[in-house]
Amino acid sequence: MSIVDFSLEGKVALVTGGSKGIGRAIALAFAEHGADVAISARGVQALEATRKELEATGRRCVAVPTDVYSDAALKKLHETVCSELGDVDILVNNVGGAEPCGLAHLTYEHFERIMKTNTWAAIYLAQLCHPAMKAKGSGVVINISSNGGLKPDPYVGAYSASKAALNIVSGQMAQEWAQDGIRSVCICPGLVRTEMAAPLVEHFEKKGFPQNMLRMCAEPEHIAGMALLLASPAGAYCHGETYVVDGGEMWRATYTDEEADAVISEIEEPA
Ligand SMILES: NC(=O)c1ccc[n+]([C@@H]2O[C@H](COP(=O)([O-])OP(=O)(O)OC[C@H]3O[C@@H](n4cnc5c(N)ncnc54)[C@H](OP(=O)(O)O)[C@@H]3O)[C@@H](O)[C@H]2O)c1
Repeated sequence: MSIVDFSLEGKVALVTGGSKGIGRAIALAFAEHGADVAISARGVQALEATRKELEATGRRCVAVPTDVYSDAALKKLHETVCSELGDVDILVNNVGGAEPCGLAHLTYEHFERIMKTNTWAAIYLAQLCHPAMKAKGSGVVINISSNGGLKPDPYVGAYSASKAALNIVSGQMAQEWAQDGIRSVCICPGLVRTEMAAPLVEHFEKKGFPQNMLRMCAEPEHIAGMALLLASPAGAYCHGETYVVDGGEMWRATYTDEEADAVISEIEEPA
């Protein structure tokens, strides 16, 4: 046995939006490390394709068509997963919608739609999982947020607000449910190469990803690695915190390399 334990043997995980992108990578990583995995999404075709990939790992898997905008659908999702696989040990609230819009034109309907999809659905699904986790005295809730919830991006409508709210909800959940043996954590990715972010990836690829220190776009697997750490015994002391996975974007200096070089050469060669 290795000193660090990433095993999810005997665990049941539910990953919303598990058919594509980051959710798919997390679901596959969890199955490869021994979990039985449930995935949900709206589109049946991609769900079925990912379900087959999950089954190829040898783990049990269920794919449940669900729109997280509907509380009734979330309740049905939870019931289906519990009856097919057992109580949920690890919940990954991964679905997140983004609809570009400047604040000057934001409507309440848009705001409500995004807040419900990105923030409320995560709270409600966690509420559904809470009683069984509490009864077992263990459980993990991982919320997939965004570094856009830590620094506002322009023209993303209600997206940044909904992700900022999700960050705080993760901390609040950690405060309230630690006594029940439940850990709650939050992951804030930067730009990741997925369907949702395809136009942005294409735009910044041409420029060499100047917004982050590594000058690269994340692949979904980079976020799945963090999720595996947080879900497994290796992450048993990670709690209530927001983990940024963005190639150094949050800490990237706002001046250009050329400006930095100019300053450094002035320091090195004083007049
Ligand atoms: N990609 C990035 O650069 C990036 C950066 C920061 C944070 N994130 C966050 O990461 C999470 C995953 O994004 P992604 O980039 O992996 O997106 P993606 O590749 O487009 O995948 C999104 C997944 O969620 C499902 N989904 C979308 N809306 C849904 C709804 N209303 N109900 C149920 N399922 C729904 C999609 O399937 P269907 O469409 O078939 O329902 C799909 O399975 C989101 O919370 C996003 O905000 C992404």
